[in-house]
Parts: sequence; structure tokens; C-alpha cells
Amino acid sequence: MSERTFVMVKPDGVQRGLIGEIVSRFESRGLKLVAGKFTVIDDDLAREHYGEHEDKPFFEDLTDFITSGPVFAMVWEGQDAVAQVRRMMGETDPAESAPGTIRGDFGLDLGRNVIHGSDTEEGSAEREIDLFFESDELVEYERIDEPWLTE
Ligand code: RTP
Ligand code: MG
Repeated sequence: MSERTFVMVKPDGVQRGLIGEIVSRFESRGLKLVAGKFTVIDDDLAREHYGEHEDKPFFEDLTDFITSGPVFAMVWEGQDAVAQVRRMMGETDPAESAPGTIRGDFGLDLGRNVIHGSDTEEGSAEREIDLFFESDELVEYERIDEPWLTE
């Protein structure tokens, strides 16, 4: 089923010049870019975005990090997009992530794991898309390869 997911190149990924590589992987996989925004997250948005971790000991470090520089926020669409993006990202800890995954190819440390993607909990992707984008910032169009991607 076609669905949308929220993805973000984190400040470490931006500083390390990985935006293009990451976008390219999703494009090549057959996912469709629906929205993109290059921005610096403020503290309120960081706290809301990571609200599920409010009570965790790493919460302050996490919000400090995610607000520490520009991020590239995106919405990607395609068959089973939420789960497929999570698989392409690897595990939360890059040290546990298989080579071939984004975190497994570009990261070493749990607190600098390059990319965020919505988790598969019901409603997570919609919540995050709504946090970062207005509905008129989501672009509807057909990619020329769409008829060749699914049976
Ligand atoms: P994200 O939300 O950033 O895409 O990462 P995730 O779903 O794979 O992992 P999540 O459990 O949501 O954790 C959010 C971020 O918090 C940091 N973290 N630190 N010190 C720790 O035990 C710990 N656990 C998680 C990670 O940087 C993770 O991306
Ligand atoms: Mg998460």
C-alpha cells in the first residue's frame, strides 16, 4: 500500500555532506520525494518531535544535537514507505547496523546516527509530517517510472 513517511538528514549528516547520497538511495529505491525543507529546528519543535523520549536520560542531549545545525527534512512516498525507509536506515545504533544500511555505512555512534525516519507505530509518520510541513508544501505529481515499480 502506498504511504508517506517523514525522513530527516540530521545535523551530523548535513555537516558531513551526506544529503545527496541519502536522497539518492531513496530515489533509486523507487520512493517519490513529496516535500523537502532545509532548516534549523528550534527547541520547541525538537521537544515536540522527540516527545516520546521526554523522560529518558538522553533527552536533553538529543534535543541539543538535533537543534545544533541545519537539517534536511523530507517526505517520501511509496509502497510500504515507512517500514522500507526504516530498513534502509539500519538499527538505531550505527554500531549494530548492517553494512548497506545508511547508519551501517555512514555512522559509528548512537548519538550521531545521521538520519531520522518515522517509526512504524500507527500515526507516527502523519504526526511528524504535520509537525514539519503545511499541507500545501506536499507536492502531488507522478514520477515517470511509477508504472514500472509495482505489479
Ligand atoms: P530516530 O527517532 O532519531 O530516527 O531514531 P530511532 O527511531 O532509531 O531511535 P529512538 O528510540 O527513537 O531514539 C531517538 C534517538 O535518541 C538517541 N538515543 N540515545 N543513549 C541512548 O540510550 C539513546 N537511545 C536513543 C539516538 O540518537 C536515537 O536516534
Ligand atoms: Mg525514533
